Amino acid sequence: PPLYIITPTYRRPEQLAELTRLSHTLMLVPNLIWLVIEDAYNTNNLIDDVLKRSGLNYHYMIAPMPVQYKNKTKGPKPRGVSNRNKGLEWIRDNAFKGVLYFADDDNTYDLDLFTEIRYTKTVSLFPVGLITKAGVSSPIVQNGTFRGFYDGWIGGRKFAVDMAGFAVSVQFLLSRPKASMPYKPGFEEDGFLKSLSPFEPSEAELLASNCTRILVWHTQTKKNEPSLALNYNKYNNTNLVSLKN
Ligand code: UGA
Ligand code: MN
Repeated sequence: PPLYIITPTYRRPEQLAELTRLSHTLMLVPNLIWLVIEDAYNTNNLIDDVLKRSGLNYHYMIAPMPVQYKNKTKGPKPRGVSNRNKGLEWIRDNAFKGVLYFADDDNTYDLDLFTEIRYTKTVSLFPVGLITKAGVSSPIVQNGTFRGFYDGWIGGRKFAVDMAGFAVSVQFLLSRPKASMPYKPGFEEDGFLKSLSPFEPSEAELLASNCTRILVWHTQTKKNEPSLALNYNKYNNTNLVSLKN
């Protein structure tokens, strides 16, 4: 069965580097359709070039964050939600079997992850390595049975999981026509998984050797100032003459 990888992305100095790294991981995975959805009002040729050069079966789309969230001055924003919902819509329109996975552009993926999630029948859960004090976000498994969630922040969530910690079968998604991700910072995963109701955490398939292996890391790239030499949309070496000194 094919894997549908939904990757939200947005413009910032590290974007091309992240997508280069992720594309080179996904190039090693068979039977994969990569949905790259940018939080922007137009596409970017530099990104399309990276995607094209990967040789992957990809679809590059845009889905800007709604302005009421984009213009928010305080508090967290619902990052990547418009992008992921666009990806879900694409799957509803174009896919009939397989498995979907939300792969943020800045995380680190072990190839075994893709082997593990490919046979997900409903929803699968697995650990995500964190670079925070908690160290991991994972289902707690005792004698092969789901016992709850471990996460640095449970926050009263029914599904206290990281965005990188679950996969969903396409057929299961299609059987839940109203499922989507809410614009609720911190509660995107929980809201999406709850929208797949009826479905309980205890019904999930526990992967990665009963959740004892970490096959994906929630890494973060340090934020940087916009660069003078590499515009988000173009890089022209001759400009370096005028930038020198
Ligand atoms: C964590 C979660 O893992 C994300 O899935 C979740 O969306 C995010 O928190 C949140 O709730 O805000 P984190 O590493 O903190 O992730 O967030 P980012 O990596 O900055 O963003 C998540 C994804 O959304 C990335 O793929 C990023 O490229 C994209 N994004 C981010 C946008 O499309 N637009 C933005 O303005 C920011
Ligand atoms: Mn991230």
